[in-house]
Amino acid sequence: MSDHVFVTRNIPEAGLELLAGSEARVTVHQRDETKGLTRDELLAGVRGCDVLLCQLTEPIDREVLSANDRLLGVAQMAVGYNNVDVEAATELGVPVANTPGVLTDTTADLAWALLMAVARRIPDGHQYMVAGRYKIWGPNLLLGQDVSPGGSGRRKVLGIIGYGRIGQAVARRAVGFEMDVLAFDPFFREGVEADEIATWAELDELLERSDFITLHPALTEDTHHLIGEAELRRMKPTACIVNASRGPVIDERALVRALREGWIAGAALDVYEDEPAMAPGLAECENAVLVPHIGSASRDTRGQMASMAAANALAHLRRERAPNAVNPEVYDTEAYRRRVQR
Ligand code: DGY
Repeated sequence: MSDHVFVTRNIPEAGLELLAGSEARVTVHQRDETKGLTRDELLAGVRGCDVLLCQLTEPIDREVLSANDRLLGVAQMAVGYNNVDVEAATELGVPVANTPGVLTDTTADLAWALLMAVARRIPDGHQYMVAGRYKIWGPNLLLGQDVSPGGSGRRKVLGIIGYGRIGQAVARRAVGFEMDVLAFDPFFREGVEADEIATWAELDELLERSDFITLHPALTEDTHHLIGEAELRRMKPTACIVNASRGPVIDERALVRALREGWIAGAALDVYEDEPAMAPGLAECENAVLVPHIGSASRDTRGQMASMAAANALAHLRRERAPNAVNPEVYDTEAYRRRVQR
């Protein structure tokens, strides 16, 4: 096997080692981690390779997928793959694989950290300290909200929208905080009903009853702007919303108005509608906690994700079923058979 794997951007060592241990020729195009690829660089890379190992920052659309009729597969180093036109890939006979499972806990941890940070005003406290403003302790200093029953003794309600692997992992964390968990999933009602932690709620009920809402659906046409002005206005004025899924699940401009005008109490975001840009005014919202898409960013997890992506890439090269193909039906198509015989 001496085929060519085009790795768009630098990946953790574990993945590179796995690729280096194969007979494949491997090119890592962009080693400067502050930069992406231009459209032309991406197209040129795809034209010259047999397998593409890519990131969520690259739009793998029909034009890219059609650029090379010898392309044996796409290995994306992420669980989310909304940047890949999977329908076009399947039609063209290109298997696409992702990296599910390994980042579930890490992403749930981040969602939980964001929830705690916005509730207890951790970034405000940090700023207060580093600005040298802490002169004397006071009983009204930086008051936030309880997540556990806390001072009021009332169990808080956590609304989870999107009850797949990550949503369920967040629910498990809520148990230790004695929260009541409501869940809504646009595609997976039975999963919630079979669960011992969460209770199914329709979206409107979840919005109206929750003290904290956390978003974990995949981004599809159905979940684009799932949370817009009407939904934000339904939330309690004391409620906070967390998003560690994909930015476009929230209408970010409506969210800025909600934060400014007090329709809700706070938001904590890991992802943005037009990443890396933010909606005008979001950065100035004092009730927003903002981090740069670091949901799966632990050393161990990113190493595992890189290894999984490399394993998927090598399976594509060997013309075997990739362990994590998201369009496994492609293997039964004439388009795939023609492609692997070239
Ligand atoms: C994913 O995997 O989809 C995350 O957003 C990045 O790790």
